[in-house]
Amino acid sequence: MKDLALDIRVEKAQQSRINEVDFNNITFGKTMSDHMFVADYRDGKWQDLRIVPYNSFSLSPATSSLHYGQSIFEGLKAFRNVQNPEEVLVFRPQENAKRLNVSAERICMPSIPEEIVMAGLHKLLEIDKDWVPSTPDSSLYIRPFMFATDEFLGMRPSETYTFAIITAPAGAYYSKALNVKVEKEFSRTAPGGTGFAKVAGNYAASLLPAKLAAQQGYDQLLWTDAKEHKYIEESGTMNVMFDIDGTFVTAPTIPVEDTILRSITRLTVIELIEDMGHKVEERHISVDEVIESIKNGKMRGAFGIGTAVTIAPFAKIANDGIDYELPADYTFSTELKAKFQGIQKGEIEDTK
Ligand code: COI
Repeated sequence: MKDLALDIRVEKAQQSRINEVDFNNITFGKTMSDHMFVADYRDGKWQDLRIVPYNSFSLSPATSSLHYGQSIFEGLKAFRNVQNPEEVLVFRPQENAKRLNVSAERICMPSIPEEIVMAGLHKLLEIDKDWVPSTPDSSLYIRPFMFATDEFLGMRPSETYTFAIITAPAGAYYSKALNVKVEKEFSRTAPGGTGFAKVAGNYAASLLPAKLAAQQGYDQLLWTDAKEHKYIEESGTMNVMFDIDGTFVTAPTIPVEDTILRSITRLTVIELIEDMGHKVEERHISVDEVIESIKNGKMRGAFGIGTAVTIAPFAKIANDGIDYELPADYTFSTELKAKFQGIQKGEIEDTK
């Protein structure tokens, strides 16, 4: 990342907590690095850009985001360059800064200039560089987020906001292939809703159905469209890809679809699969087609795609109370993950 000069005040932690971390045994999202980047939106502009020791925010009980959910986030990862471990690599962070503003617009938040996001990220990673793990399948997960801070219970867009970036060393998100259940009762979003954006409420809406599925022994859900529960949209917090006889099928996003997250990892995975010489179809895929393809042996494999998980293969898909096993010898998703991580770690050139 190139050096970006913006006026960022830096207050360093008196003592690093890094020695308390076992980098060979990291639970995702539990341990944060020493510092965070923060900026406030007041009087119509972003101000007081600062790096400060990671700490709690002090919030009024009437803080509007706690009540009405004006809150958005992003997720991305930093790796050590395998060729030069002193260098920290972040994969296409500008794309996250852009999407942050897409999410912001959808729920009436102010946009934040990409330069502020990029400069804050750059400075934070420079200061907390030692927190970027070098153990296999690990990274420094980066969580930018923005929330409304007006102390006001009236229902209207907040006039003040905080933007912050925190980071957390992360290992593999899932340790095994997933058993997923087709969800036909609940929806995570609906046409005209916020599904395409990274809005906190989308994740809240997914918790109860995911909990009910977990009680039945499933790791995750396959979300279907809210109108008919006929077409597959996403899985858990991931986009999804089906390998049907060597053609890779994933639900469409832009220009018209507003129920599917416009995932940066999804776009990269599509590029990679095409570069590997395979066909990708971005189209509606019905539950019936998925089940039929498993039954007639055309379904070679299926996997979720997301920043936190990278690529998460599925072992079983359950529909209407029946479990359908996917081929256990499917290796493409592992190959794809290795390729993607190779780019993220500077082993393979990112040609785009
Ligand atoms: C990500 O992949 O960054 C996500 O948004 C997943 C997160 C909810 C853990």
